[in-house]
Amino acid sequence: MSMKKIIIANWKMNPQILDEALRLAKGLLARSLPKNAEIVIAPPFVYLELLKKNCGKEIKLAGQNISFAERGAFTGEISGLMLKNLGCDYVIVGHSERRYKMGETDEMINLKIKEALKSRLTPILAVGEREKDDDIIQILTKQIRGALGGVEASEMSRLIIAYEPVWAISRPSADIASALSQTASQCPDTPDHALSAALLIKKIIGNLYGADWATNLPVLYGGSVSEENASDFISQNGISGALVGAASLELEKFVKIIKAAEINE
Ligand code: 13P
Repeated sequence: MSMKKIIIANWKMNPQILDEALRLAKGLLARSLPKNAEIVIAPPFVYLELLKKNCGKEIKLAGQNISFAERGAFTGEISGLMLKNLGCDYVIVGHSERRYKMGETDEMINLKIKEALKSRLTPILAVGEREKDDDIIQILTKQIRGALGGVEASEMSRLIIAYEPVWAISRPSADIASALSQTASQCPDTPDHALSAALLIKKIIGNLYGADWATNLPVLYGGSVSEENASDFISQNGISGALVGAASLELEKFVKIIKAAEINE
């Protein structure tokens, strides 16, 4: 049985002006988007309201982050309910850039997952090892167990996990100055490795919640998906779609990635 592929555009801290955000979203809408794929944009918070007004029902919206608290004195934070009320269906939690550049811990990520679920948002939990020779079993087990502590099996149907090998994206930096100047990784991942990581994630979920939840869990691939390699990753049976960074900011490239999802449904 084939599952609907999910393609998420993580715009990160781009584009710099609202007109460009609108141009990108309207450009996407002008294409005939596949019915058999879920297309999601995760823009910076400040563009969410405008995109909601302009994206219709065809494109879903995601927050890039969520506060670990429900409400109150948390300057600069955005709550799950605020995201829900703005029209988001999803929220990315634990992105590697938040873990390694903004110092998010497994404990904070766990609270964020719970806030997302409480606010009726689907969390897209990002996990992944930093270095290619890191112990992937140990790291993914720790990140997944840490993120899901206290989360009931009945809530598993609302979870998505994105595997992000950090070494395939960009080099994490210990300090802000070097984080700002970092460049894209020259160390691409392979579809075979991505699939084995996706199966490992399902195995960890299976051990925690049982085989049925593991089978049905959508695992996305998020390690530098481009218009050239999208099909190789998305076509794998155990991979349910992609979390796309830089390539999602270029309309023609992103449209090609979406088409790859349509073909590989
Ligand atoms: P890139 O696709 O720009 O490498 O980023 C991947 C990523 O971080 C997706 O969230």
